[in-house]
Amino acid sequence: AKPRRLVVVSNRVADFNAKFQTGGLAVALGDTLKASHGVWFGWSGDVTEDAVSTAPKVENVEGLTVATIDLTPEEAEGYYYGYANRCLWPALHYRLDLAKGNEAHSEIYFNVSARFADALMPLVGPDDLIWVHDYHLIPLAEELRGRGCTARIGFFLHTPFPSPEIFAAVPGQKRLGNALMVYDVVGFQTCSDRDNFRRYVAASLDGEQLRGDRIAAQGETTLASVFPIGIDATAFRKLAESESAKGPLLPDLGEDMKTIIGVDRLDYTKGLPERLRAFETLLEDFPEHRGRVRLVQVAPPTRETLPVYQEIREEVERLVGRINGRFGDLRWTPVTYLHRGVPQDILTRLYRESAVGLVTPLRDGMNLVAKEYVAAQAPQDPGVLVLSRFAGAAEQLREALLINPHDINEMARALDRALTMPRQERWARHNRLWQRIETYDLDTWRDSFIQTFAASDSDPVNLF
Ligand code: G6P
Repeated sequence: AKPRRLVVVSNRVADFNAKFQTGGLAVALGDTLKASHGVWFGWSGDVTEDAVSTAPKVENVEGLTVATIDLTPEEAEGYYYGYANRCLWPALHYRLDLAKGNEAHSEIYFNVSARFADALMPLVGPDDLIWVHDYHLIPLAEELRGRGCTARIGFFLHTPFPSPEIFAAVPGQKRLGNALMVYDVVGFQTCSDRDNFRRYVAASLDGEQLRGDRIAAQGETTLASVFPIGIDATAFRKLAESESAKGPLLPDLGEDMKTIIGVDRLDYTKGLPERLRAFETLLEDFPEHRGRVRLVQVAPPTRETLPVYQEIREEVERLVGRINGRFGDLRWTPVTYLHRGVPQDILTRLYRESAVGLVTPLRDGMNLVAKEYVAAQAPQDPGVLVLSRFAGAAEQLREALLINPHDINEMARALDRALTMPRQERWARHNRLWQRIETYDLDTWRDSFIQTFAASDSDPVNLF
């Protein structure tokens, strides 16, 4: 078989100069891409007036070609802040109430894929495997095919694919649906995402299901499959082991003090107000925990120029203040809240010294914090994962305490249960979770996606 080169396209490209890579994706794809002398193409993150007439910036990072383009202010506004983050992001997370349709923005969104295709065409050959990531760039395959690209093109959606009734209400949905059908492979995080997509194709695009994962609609056939994203579990566990040897990070408030940890971008999909209310209810209804538990919430800023993100921040900060004012005393502050990111080595220590990992999104594609929390635990004396049923991770991590984040009382009871769970039960649950995380790790995710290109082609696939 011919060796293939991998070309990854995503809105954001990893910053290889950064000391800490946030997001496992950058690390995993970065390593694979280096090994296959691959290409990573995306937005530079810069906004410049003359972006359209500027050639892509091409750099070589240890054998990997990183190519980026700038966006004009109108493109950043219409494509990234506009259609992608003000319309698609909320709709994909079941928040049609927040999804703002705007024809000018969706035009710009489609045009940016055309611009990506123009810049990408000279960099790709017919034997390359082009792997497009996430909701920003759905129209890219169509644009590449329109320019005569014959390479295999796959797409992976990191977010949920909502039920067909929701997706059918997205302004511009037919264009998106048709554009997805152009890919050779369309990958989803969970079976329910894939099934939603199939049902959508059947209902809205007059599609039909063929054998296996194949579906056909509008004269195109594609393979719609499930590839749950994972973490580099072994490396993460090792890092947690060596980092935790450095001793505790949080102030020592006595042996009885237990920590609950939450780590999320400050996004309205993450269920942060619900989580804080559940913690407040825990302190209200289970007074034995007062003075004996603290919630550490790390919430880095995200998409801050959009008003809904400013509103969720205000709500979160109001709740943190209320809980601390109501229950705290001179010694004990119930909620420690950081509105910034923390480097991975510090995170692993925080996870390891926390008795409970609290992950409560109202909807989430996968949620890798859940997996990282499990991987960071000391195997003999692990903490307990409390996980939303509406995170993609819940399909795999069934031994977590699964909760409905809309039910504050249920969450408070789950927190009490997690804080008081006997070691034997913690250990048994952790073992099962760890095995699954280790089996379905980042390499498995990447390799199974890449191998599926083979099923969409007659040649077996071999990266070089
Ligand atoms: C989610 C999306 C990613 C996105 C990330 C951060 O995980 O699925 O595509 O990169 O959020 O959001 P941002 O808008 O800062 O790229």
